[in-house]
Amino acid sequence: MGRLYLGLETSCDETAAAVVEDGRRVLSSKLVSQINVHQQFGGVVPEVAARRHVETINEVIDQVMADAGVGYRELDAVACTAGPGLIGTLLVGLSAAKALSWAWDLPLITVDHLMAHVCANYLDTDLEPPFVALLVSGGHTQIVHFQTFTGGRILGQTLDDAAGEAFDKVARLLGLGYPGGPAIDSISAEGNAQAFAFPEGVVAGYNFSFSGLKTAVLRCVQKLSPPLPVADLAASFQDAVTRVLVRKTLAAQKELGAPRIVLAGGVAANRQLRAKLTKFAPVPVYFPRMDYCTDNAAMVAAAAHFCGESSGLGVSAYSRQR
Ligand code: KG4
Ligand code: ZN
Repeated sequence: MGRLYLGLETSCDETAAAVVEDGRRVLSSKLVSQINVHQQFGGVVPEVAARRHVETINEVIDQVMADAGVGYRELDAVACTAGPGLIGTLLVGLSAAKALSWAWDLPLITVDHLMAHVCANYLDTDLEPPFVALLVSGGHTQIVHFQTFTGGRILGQTLDDAAGEAFDKVARLLGLGYPGGPAIDSISAEGNAQAFAFPEGVVAGYNFSFSGLKTAVLRCVQKLSPPLPVADLAASFQDAVTRVLVRKTLAAQKELGAPRIVLAGGVAANRQLRAKLTKFAPVPVYFPRMDYCTDNAAMVAAAAHFCGESSGLGVSAYSRQR
């Protein structure tokens, strides 16, 4: 048996735990989503989310330990997300991990949420750096050059909304509910992506801007009379977002001569983004399994193995990227 990590993830609205061996092999993984709780508010309410995590986390931990068939004596470390994320929800996972580390006399490893998204690509693969990563989540949009397991150099990022945030806002505008990414992804399959010409957002280098695109969709909707051609609007919006993400990622890969491209974060679940990148990339493209794209704890346990930080019990959570 290799090194076994219990990972916990509570950075937003999923309470998740997993047991992973050597950062690659998932022995067990469980997630309790709070989506139905937050849907009525049209987004995540931090205080409600934190309370839900408190109610759920022990049960989820018990379950993954049982599913993996391991006792705490067989674990090598307890790991959790320390940030970035919602501070109140992060503290629930961090407190649980500290308590277990103390009670079970195991090292505590804290993990960065964005690094964990990238590490989701190590699960069930033999992927190794160097690579160019397109990291697209609800809170971040970045192109990062990884030459080692432990960190990368940010080549560019969004100047305003994150890609996932743009999906969520446009979905709300089109009456598709929360979370918007999966809804736009599925309804776009029935729409015509050429129906509306939305701007990509012109920003130099590897940076992005999605606020102009969001406003363009809003203006377009305001001019149309009902019923709205929702599928065509969604497909045209999705086309504009994925076009610019793919174009800049390919340009970065080419400039650096990177031998592979890695897709990470919740928006990596987008079927059109995965398909376009795979179609046009001259090098292999990696993306996580669908359920490891959005927040989960298997990626946290993987990150603990490859790039986690050994922490004392005094370690704090952080809400913004460091
Ligand atoms: O990584 P993640 O689970 O949480 C953050 O760290 O932010 O990403 C959530 C984001 C949401 O904005 C959601 O709408 C988006 O990922 N998302 C998608 C898809 N699935 C989730 N966006 C586009 N297409 C999808 N299939
Ligand atoms: Zn995330």
